[in-house]
Amino acid sequence: MAGEKKTYGHLEKVGWKSPSNIALVKYWGKKPGQFPMNPSLSITLSESYTETILYFEKSLNPSSETKFSFLFEGKNNPEFSSRIKIYISSLHHYFPFLKEYNLYFESKNSFPHSVGIASSASSLSSIALCLCSMEQKVSSSHLTEEEFFRKASEMARLGSGSACRSVYGGFVSWGENQAQESTSAHFASKMEVYVSPEFRELNDAILVIDDTPKQVSSTEGHNLLNGHPYAESRFKQASANFGQLIQILQDGGFDKFAKVVEEEAMSIHAMMLTSNPSYCLIQPNTLSAIKKIKEWREKHKVPVCFTLDAGPNIHLIYPEQQAALVKPLIEELKNFCVNGIVLMDKVGAGPEKLF
Ligand code: DP6
Repeated sequence: MAGEKKTYGHLEKVGWKSPSNIALVKYWGKKPGQFPMNPSLSITLSESYTETILYFEKSLNPSSETKFSFLFEGKNNPEFSSRIKIYISSLHHYFPFLKEYNLYFESKNSFPHSVGIASSASSLSSIALCLCSMEQKVSSSHLTEEEFFRKASEMARLGSGSACRSVYGGFVSWGENQAQESTSAHFASKMEVYVSPEFRELNDAILVIDDTPKQVSSTEGHNLLNGHPYAESRFKQASANFGQLIQILQDGGFDKFAKVVEEEAMSIHAMMLTSNPSYCLIQPNTLSAIKKIKEWREKHKVPVCFTLDAGPNIHLIYPEQQAALVKPLIEELKNFCVNGIVLMDKVGAGPEKLF
């Protein structure tokens, strides 16, 4: 019957909870095959995550098209569902068994979907992890834990570049560079260097400046770097910032950290402003909040800085040890937020297997 809610309790299932991440050095610009033009470095969050369950059964008629459904928060979202279907079909080469299975996904986010927080990193990484877990159940593939997460990261990358970093907790890097030779363009890696204590427990207060859907997607934004007059300089700047940030994380020094992180945020928005056609995702309240953060930091000498994703919302980054001191700033910044909404998040340990 049309509209009938199906239950899949009798089927085999796998499930993952996978977090979002916020880049400190930004991935902005890509090559065919979803390879980044420059290395990026992010922190994985803990409170903003997607939970995905994948129910599966062998198709009784594998010669015809297998069944597929994707329910997001209990509802069918045809646009997202068809994007995921195309994504999964593109992975048949890596998961040949998929051709024989009916797949039924159920997915939900921990954060309200109307607050303009990008969910592709948490969503795509949770789906990639589910597919890797399914592979372990239905095929003869036996990957080590390291190989498992590496494959999940690579599969997530093919869905959305930044999603490959969500497969690991803490500081995560992605993209070829000279500062960290183990880092690859195919998959992300957990940063294994010594990290100075002040950066070990970072908080991220997400200021919801605007909750309307983005006018220009990240994918379109990446593509606008092709032929962009400042693209080469931007890629060089990001590579240099990546190397510097890795050194700062080891040596300590919040001022230096803030300088790199804020430059990265403003730089990708400058690329948007100067692309052809140009566009602007920053809102007047984004700039008012940035001004307030800088003035407040100057006055109170408290280590706090901001970054932006490809949208108007601000991520306020500060060490957990400073949380009590930063609280009054967050209260003031609520004036710039839609309905005063601030999502309190922090660095997390990475994905968790549900089943
Ligand atoms: C500004 O990963 O969303 O958040 O690979 O096309 O899916 P696609 O783009 P996406 O781009 C993220 C851009 C960013 C910076 C970052 O996360 O590094």
